[in-house]
Amino acid sequence: MDRYQNIRNNIIDKYSCLVDDKTKFAESINIPLKQSFRVNTLKEEKKTVIKKLKEYDPTIKTTEWNDNAHISELNNLGSSLEHFVGHIYIQELTSMIPPLVVKDLITDIKIIDCCAAPGSKTTQIAAMMENKGHIIANDARHARLKSLRGNLDRLGVTNTSVTLRDFKSFPNTKADLYFVDAPCSSEGTIRKKNTVARTWKENDYLRFNKLQNGLLSKACEMAPSGSTIVYSTCTFSPDENEKVISETLDKYDLKMKNISIENLRSESGITEWNNESYNSEVEKCMRVWPHHNDTDAFFIARMEKC
Ligand SMILES: C[S@@+](CC[C@H](N)C(=O)[O-])C[C@H]1O[C@@H](n2cnc3c(N)ncnc32)[C@H](O)[C@@H]1O
Repeated sequence: MDRYQNIRNNIIDKYSCLVDDKTKFAESINIPLKQSFRVNTLKEEKKTVIKKLKEYDPTIKTTEWNDNAHISELNNLGSSLEHFVGHIYIQELTSMIPPLVVKDLITDIKIIDCCAAPGSKTTQIAAMMENKGHIIANDARHARLKSLRGNLDRLGVTNTSVTLRDFKSFPNTKADLYFVDAPCSSEGTIRKKNTVARTWKENDYLRFNKLQNGLLSKACEMAPSGSTIVYSTCTFSPDENEKVISETLDKYDLKMKNISIENLRSESGITEWNNESYNSEVEKCMRVWPHHNDTDAFFIARMEKC
C-alpha cells in the first residue's frame, strides 16, 4: 500500500464516526478532485471568459451554490492564456466559502486578511468589493508574500496593502471585518494531489490549536464592537476547529452567527470530541464534508464582536 493510501485510510478511520454515511465518505476521500476556478470579474466578464474557456473544455460546469465557481475536466488551466493574464484564478471550491458567508458585509469597508498568502481569498474579496474599500493582506512568511503580491498584480487588485508580520504581534488595527484563514493540518485537502504529507499525531493537532487560538485571539482583541470575525480551516480535526472556537468564546464577548449557503450541503459544528464537550454555540459553525458536494473538507465560523 502506498504511503498516501495509508494517510487516506487513517483519515477515514479517524473521522467516520462523525459522518452520516461512512461508505460515501470513504469513497469520496479516494477520488481525486477536478480542477476548479473562478473568473476574475475585475478584469473580464464571466460569460466572456467561460465562452472562451469552453473552446478548450466544453464540459466546464458551474456549481449550484456559487455562480462563480467552475469545474473543469482539464488539469492544466494554470497554463492557459486566461490564467496568465488574470482572467481566471485556480481555486479550490471550498476555499471560496469564507467570502460568501459574509457577502452581505462586503462593500467598500475595511478588511484585514490575517493569514492571506497566496491570496486566493484576498483576490476573491477584492473582486467582490470591485476594488473599493481597503484590504490589509498579512502573512508571516516572507517566501509566501511573493506569490501573494504576484496574484494581486496578475488579477489587477488595487485596494490591498500587503504586510509581513506574525499576526499575533500585529499592531492593533480597527477594521469592519477580519478573516482568520488559519494554518492547519490541512487534512481536508487530501483529495488534492496528496497535499497531506504525513499522518498527524495528537500532539500536532494541539500545537496547531495553540497557534490558531493565538491568531484568533489577536483578531478578537483588536476587533471593535460590531465588527465581524471569520475563522476557517481546511481540516477535519475538531481540535483545530470547534475546540478553538469554544475556547475563544470562553475568553471574549462574541456572538456566534448562523451561516449557510444556498444549495451547498453543510452540517453544524460538533459539540463533543475525545471526551471533551464544547460550548454549545459551536453548533452554529459550518462543516462541509467531501461526500456531500464533491469537494474538499472545510470548517468555518462567523462571529460578531459585542
Ligand atoms: C491556510 S493558509 C492561508 C491561505 C490564504 N488565506 C488564501 O486563501 O490563499 C495559512 C497562512 O497562514 C500563514 N501563517 C502562519 N503562521 C502565521 C502567523 N503567525 N501570522 C500570520 N500568518 C501566518 C502561512 O504562511 C499561510 O500562508
